[in-house]
Formats: sequence, C-alpha cells, structure tokens
Amino acid sequence: MRAYDIILKKRNGYELTEEEINFFINGIMDGSIQDYQASALLMAIYFNGLTDKETSQLTMAMVNSGEILDLSSIDGIKVDKHSTGGVGDKISLIVIPLVASVGVPVAKISGRGLGHTGGTIDKLESIPGFRTDLDTETFIDNVNKFKMAIAGQTHNLTPADKKLYSLRDVTATVDSIPLIASSIMSKKIASGADCIVLDVKVGSGAFMKKLDEAILLAETMVNIGKRLGKKTIAIVSDMNQPLGYEIGNANEVREAIEVLKGKGAEDETYIALTIASYMAVLGGAFNDFDTAFEYMKRAIETGEGIKYLRKLITIQGGNPNVIDDPSILPQAKNKIEIKSDKDGYINSINAEKIGTAAMLLGAGRTKKDETIDHGAGITLTKKVGDRVKKGDTLSILHTNRTKWDDAINIVKDAFIINKNEIEPLKYIYKIIE
Ligand code: URA
Repeated sequence: MRAYDIILKKRNGYELTEEEINFFINGIMDGSIQDYQASALLMAIYFNGLTDKETSQLTMAMVNSGEILDLSSIDGIKVDKHSTGGVGDKISLIVIPLVASVGVPVAKISGRGLGHTGGTIDKLESIPGFRTDLDTETFIDNVNKFKMAIAGQTHNLTPADKKLYSLRDVTATVDSIPLIASSIMSKKIASGADCIVLDVKVGSGAFMKKLDEAILLAETMVNIGKRLGKKTIAIVSDMNQPLGYEIGNANEVREAIEVLKGKGAEDETYIALTIASYMAVLGGAFNDFDTAFEYMKRAIETGEGIKYLRKLITIQGGNPNVIDDPSILPQAKNKIEIKSDKDGYINSINAEKIGTAAMLLGAGRTKKDETIDHGAGITLTKKVGDRVKKGDTLSILHTNRTKWDDAINIVKDAFIINKNEIEPLKYIYKIIE
C-alpha cells in the first residue's frame, strides 16, 4: 500500500477502505507518511468528502491511535456531553450535578478555553481550591461513589486527531464536516462514555455559522455514534448571542449557581434542562424525555441540583461556600459600563465579538498555555429583543488590566440596536436522535 495511491483515490472521489484509512493514520503516527502527504489527503477529503462509513472508520482509526479510557469499572451507563463551543456556555456546570442526582454516572473529561470560546476546566478552576487534575483511580472512584467527576485531559487520547488538527489549521481544511465530526467523536469515544449528548452551537459565536451546516454536522456525528455502538443525541442550539448573561470564568460559575437555584437566565436554564434530560434518558433513569424534563425542573425547585453541585465542589477540593456566597469567587478590580447611545430594540449581540472582548479583558487565551484571569469577563444586562433607552447599560466589563479601549470598541460594535422590534431568538433549532 502506498500513501500516493490513497491520496489519488480520494482525489478522484472514490471511497477508501478501512485498511487504507488505518494505513494512513498509522503512517502519520509512526512518521512513515509525511506531513505534505497527510495535508494532500486532507485537502482531497475537504473537496470530495467522506461517506458515513469512511467517517466512522476514520473516527475509530483516530481513537485507536492513543489511549482509550477504560471506564468499565464504573457501574451503570456512563453518559457524556459535548458542546461544539460558544460564548457564555456554562451548561456542563449545570448538567453534571443534575444528571448525577438521578443516579446516572457522569465521567466528564473537559478542555480549556481558547480564543473567543471558554472551557469548563478554566471555569471550575475559578472556584478556590477546585482540583481538575484527578488521576484515573480517583476519577473512577469518585464516579462510583458520587456519580460524578470532572477532570482535564491528561491521558494521551487521540494523538492522531491532534496531529491532523494541527495540519488542518495551517492548510485551510478545518471546516470540513466529516473531519470536524470525526475529530469531535474520536475524543468522546476515547473518553470512554457509553452514550453521548452533543450540543451543536450555531450562529455568530459558534464554529458553525449557518443552520444547515450545523444540522449536517449534528447528523454526521449522530451517525458516527450509531455506527460505532454509542447511543448519541444531538441538539442544535443558538449561539447568535452569548448564552445567559455572564461571560468569563468566575462570572459563569456564579450564573450556573443561579440557574441551579432556579434564578437563572431562561435560555441557559432551558438548554441545560434539555441536555440533562436527554442524558438521563440515555443513562436509563427515565423512559422518555418529558418525564425526565419534569424531574429536572423539580430537581432545581427542590434544591437537589444545587445540592449535587455543592457535593461536586467539595469532593474535588473546592470551597463549597461559593454556593451561598458567590462573592468568594474572584472578582476584577475594574468595572466599566457600556451604555446605549440610542433608543430602540436590541436586534443582535454578536457572540464572537463579546467572546473576543472578554478574552482581551483577561478571561481567555490568545494562544495555548497563556494564563487567564478568572475574575475577568463581561456581564450582559440586555439580550436580543429587549427594548433600550439612550443611556441604559448594555453590559459591564470586568477586568484587572489597565487598558480596555479595544474591548469597549468591540463590545459597542457587537450590539446592533434598531427602531424595529424583533422576536427573541429561538433556543433550540433541531434535535437529532
Ligand atoms: N472541534 C474539534 O474538536 N475538532 C474539530 O475539528 C473542530 C472543532
């Protein structure tokens, strides 16, 4: 077998065999296939796509390129969730305790933020003392004892995906649906869950800007799950404005606590309840979505959800008093209000711009390994559809930095205010089961 023939075959639009896909991925990993040949294959895939069969086989080849977390010693059906990334997306902080509260084990491996999007691990690390560097034994033990654990990725999961992603990044081949789908699903499968709920974000702050592309990505990933024996459900949810009102690590923990106390933003609460309900159904706690949804709503009302968040914080070494007194969380010294310069209705709040401004205020990273400021971020005081008067506060910037002019300009630019009244945005566009 030769790399050349595989590239030629895909360039000419033919379906690759499992042997050819494995040969290529193994060759990339052992260095027998060069970066320029891998890049050529990626470009051929970009233009000619992959069939469902090839996409699943590529996913498995990437899974098998590294370690696979063995969660078989955890009792019950392990469910995982994944968001394709957004701004103000604190859903994991809400769903982990909710799902654990019905006895479904959640063994969550999460990432850090990069660019305009945040990461769950950074958010949790804003809680004083919270540890995300659990070794495998403690991780599995905690899930068995408490039904939940969350850790950063320390294992060598899917190294082939890392290698391919770094090539895609510099060869303009990131935005290929089968490559994105196999990349995401390979990481989820290597993380060892039995079932997966995917939150595919669409809109100005998301990776997928168009609804039809987001739906196709969601369908492709659900298909991979089906072919590889992992029950998978995807929701396609809105990211045309930030989720909830808070952006930035400590800010988002504060808002997640509010949601679990029943005082959270409607969009955030609804999406969290939906995802938690699908996870609970896949995990076997309920027979149908509606019953699960009713339970999850009640778990917020009765305080069961917040009880489990307190427990999660405690078992991972964090200070549980943040639940009763969120002012313990880091806060930035400077607070700058952005005011409306006209009367009208908020027509849009560009989520990517808000995420970028939050990053410039210190909440995010422009490159990997940069340190972040857990207290930095942005609080929105208005959402799309709201009426505003000239002089009303639209948002508050939080920063410890000494310069914030760029962030102010970006945030001002993010808000489009017009005379015409518009409908609030939908929360969820489609569910693919
Ligand atoms: N996120 C991933 O994990 N992989 C991609 O290819 C794109 C987004």
